Amino acid sequence: MSDETFSPGLDGVSVAETRLSDIDGESGDLVVGGFPVEELATNATFEESYFLLLRDRLPTDDELAAFRADLAGRHEIGDEVRAVLRRAAADGKPAMDALRMGAAAATLGTDDGVPEEDARRVVAAFPTIVATYWRYRQGEDPVAPDEDLGHAANYLRMLTGEEPSEAAVRGLETYLNTVIDHGLNASTFTARVVVSTESDVVSATTAAVGALKGPLHGGAPGPVFDMLCEVHESGDSEGYVRGKLDAGERLMGFGHRVYRVRDPRAGVLSTAAERFYEERGESDFFETVREFEDVAVDALAEHKPERRLETNVEFYTAALLHGVGVPRDLFTATFAVARAGGWTAHCLEQLDDNRLVRPGSRYVGATGRTWTAAENR
Ligand code: ACO
Repeated sequence: MSDETFSPGLDGVSVAETRLSDIDGESGDLVVGGFPVEELATNATFEESYFLLLRDRLPTDDELAAFRADLAGRHEIGDEVRAVLRRAAADGKPAMDALRMGAAAATLGTDDGVPEEDARRVVAAFPTIVATYWRYRQGEDPVAPDEDLGHAANYLRMLTGEEPSEAAVRGLETYLNTVIDHGLNASTFTARVVVSTESDVVSATTAAVGALKGPLHGGAPGPVFDMLCEVHESGDSEGYVRGKLDAGERLMGFGHRVYRVRDPRAGVLSTAAERFYEERGESDFFETVREFEDVAVDALAEHKPERRLETNVEFYTAALLHGVGVPRDLFTATFAVARAGGWTAHCLEQLDDNRLVRPGSRYVGATGRTWTAAENR
């Protein structure tokens, strides 16, 4: 195949048209459903954001109530799914493995195959799957979803068994809206590739969970949190950063394939996070976070002067999710709870005007070999 457009990692290649979100990596602007992310994140409920992705407009009051009720009515997962999650928790599987197994099983006992039905079912089931797994891992019974609560409040309540505060719900909602969609990132691309074969939305989102899990994509916030705790204890950001870079390691929460400036989502999340630390009298931890960011960005500029490496979304994801009370081991799974909105909307968009995704590859293997029988090798 011709290699005129050879692009490892598909850098600089556009393979789909989308109306869902747009990233300007040079200016650091992110638009989701036509809104600057800053505006959507801080004003919308998750249901409004997801409706916006599906319908390309905000819902009226009545539409929002109906949409919210529809999603809330789909939170339940069956006994079979709970059994898978109980086993995953007992085996000590990480949350993203449990979510992948739960996502794959989520349509047991349902009539699947209608793309938007599957999309809504997946989005509604994800918080229940993650929270159920977490309760089992804590040796506790799952908390049944409450149909009267919104998506974010339900998730927090199913995790803790307690009514979440309004501030925690707003904080989580800000997070979910901030990361609901982000162009053709690796997991969204995965979902679109799967559905482009005319497979189904459940298969596509299950595959996307696998893509999100890796540390170069959604797996970074847990390690970011560990790093921040370590530095908060030692009080030595400079030493930590130098040690990592001198050892040739990457600093989690920094660098991005598209952004050459600070990820705009980092700004939204840091503003939302700060208040939790103030309210809890833990502003010193947040000061460590801010100081670490400054030290890391300066050190990365020195380390790689030819490549701007700035703060990405995962850095403040760790700070905000910890602030609202999401356990560290669920950070990436909570990312998936949000991104399921984007994944499923992309699947529907792909199916609307589908073309099988099938890129080429540059062959670098041997040619002209002649066969030798096994006994003569
Ligand atoms: N720390 C130290 N060095 C880095 C970092 C980092 N965080 N990020 C990139 N670099 C270096 C690379 O080692 C590479 O150096 P080299 O040319 O000497 O090999 C150079 O900068 C260019 O890096 P690439 O790998 O080409 O950058 P790419 O666009 O592929 O990577 C990525 C982007 C994966 C996010 C990268 O910056 C990284 O690994 N960051 C740390 C992990 C992380 O924070 N992941 C979350 C990403 S956000 C998200 O997906 C939601």
